Amino acid sequence: MRLILLGPPGAGKGTQCKRVVEKYGIAHLSSGDILRAERAAGTELGSKAQSYMDSGALVPDDLIIDMMIGAIKKASTGYVLDGFPRTVVQAEGLDQALSNAGEKIDAIVELQVPDSAILSRMTGRRSCPVCGGVYHVENLKPKIDGQCDKGCGPLVQRKDDTPDVVKNRLKTYHEQTAAVVGYYEDKFPILTINADQDIDKVTADVFKGLESLVR
Ligand code: AP5
Repeated sequence: MRLILLGPPGAGKGTQCKRVVEKYGIAHLSSGDILRAERAAGTELGSKAQSYMDSGALVPDDLIIDMMIGAIKKASTGYVLDGFPRTVVQAEGLDQALSNAGEKIDAIVELQVPDSAILSRMTGRRSCPVCGGVYHVENLKPKIDGQCDKGCGPLVQRKDDTPDVVKNRLKTYHEQTAAVVGYYEDKFPILTINADQDIDKVTADVFKGLESLVR
């Protein structure tokens, strides 16, 4: 199965992707996670991406397209793309790679959340730097305060989850990424999900929608 999960920052893409990959046994290809891993490893790509990520701007398309197409080629059991494509140019780059490989996307899942719900989700988010687990100080608490449930160690707050950067990320989303949903109309089935509800209810709606779309 090949899926694309779209939605604004803080829509719950990472949270829902983790549940989708567990259920369907496919790879979770998150452009944000891959970029953070590149930064942590001190690679050239990581250092090029740093200033864009810290300000809430998009990393240049050519860097992202090469990085994500490389990851897709290794995902032999299928994948869910999280955070990619984020511009129409990236979507065109993906189309080209899919067409070269004779493959297609089974479904687009769009998580819809109003901007007013986003800020508290982002400022309350805590992440595990080791396994990528995502928690929230109110909505999804770890079993032990500040510690990953998988025993990896302390949770951290992402640098780009400050109110000013979140505002910028939302602006970037509306200006550059929202159009990607329109790009896919008439190309692949689109599943529109109300993600402004309880996390488990969102998961149930995603699973139900996928069952009917890709059956
Ligand atoms: P990236 O890491 O992709 O960030 P994002 O898209 O802004 O998304 P987030 O990871 O912040 O949110 P999410 O939707 O995954 O929500 P989550 O599940 O964590 O990108 C970071 C940066 O990298 C970008 O700004 C850019 O610079 C660069 N970049 C990445 N991809 C790029 C690309 N393709 N092109 C160019 N640049 C790129 O949930 C958030 C919080 O809310 C959690 O605490 C969670 O517990 C909570 N939560 C989740 N669902 C719910 C719910 N239903 N109710 C209540 N709380 C909830």
